Amino acid sequence: MIMLKRPEEIEIMRVANRIVAEVLVAMKEAVRPGVTTGELDHIAEEMTRARGAVPAFKGYDVGGRVYPASLCASINDEVVHGIPSPSRVLQEGDIIGCDFGVCYKGFYGDAAVTIPVGAVDEKIQDLMRTTREALEAGIEAARPGQRIGDVSAAIQAVAESRDFAIVRDFVGHGIGRRLHEEPQVPNFGRADRGIRLREGMVLAIEPMLNVGGPEVEVKEDGWTAVTCDGSLSAHFEHSVAIVEQGPMVLSVL
Ligand code: MF3
Ligand code: CO
Repeated sequence: MIMLKRPEEIEIMRVANRIVAEVLVAMKEAVRPGVTTGELDHIAEEMTRARGAVPAFKGYDVGGRVYPASLCASINDEVVHGIPSPSRVLQEGDIIGCDFGVCYKGFYGDAAVTIPVGAVDEKIQDLMRTTREALEAGIEAARPGQRIGDVSAAIQAVAESRDFAIVRDFVGHGIGRRLHEEPQVPNFGRADRGIRLREGMVLAIEPMLNVGGPEVEVKEDGWTAVTCDGSLSAHFEHSVAIVEQGPMVLSVL
């Protein structure tokens, strides 16, 4: 069942997502060669609690597998769900996906950015730019009367126009009183298919693109998803409310 949100609930979700956005801006400022992902996780958690919110991912339980940190920090060939560690040191030329969520007054916020560490290759910049543009195209299609497939197809068109592979094993999702709600929001699909979008839906749209093949696998830690071919991957995400006027990005940076 898809839970529609009233305007006052969307306002609370806007506050939740503003906290997420503030943390992601702080991540952009903190990321540089020599910083550890453990330090980033600490900053994210402290900022969240100082704002009266709770980190959404810490303790997140998928059938007994419990996520141990506040931030997901995924470096280079890591696609999503990289676990921060005090021994993981950022190097010049890396890219790091920072994915963060909070719960505030009973509602969730969720967003992600991929950040370059110092100067990165042109190809990597193209990967990041294309992933961001794919997200923007998906957001643009998220309007009342459109269908989920329109969002998916818009993302896919941008990704494939630039020859990057779309990760299929993870998808976007509805968000609200739970971190993951219906509907699923795939990053590939056909226009004019799927459920009809309505005012009051809130979607976390989150394309993940790879330089090489689309296949991913989960490492022995039970969380970190990496590309099977070792190629680089980028991830951007926004939580977006569908209102009468069109898409309203709640997690504006
Ligand atoms: N943004 C991701 C998602 O929407 C992060 C989830 S990490 C987890 O699925 F630890 F909470 F699973
Ligand atoms: Co998400």
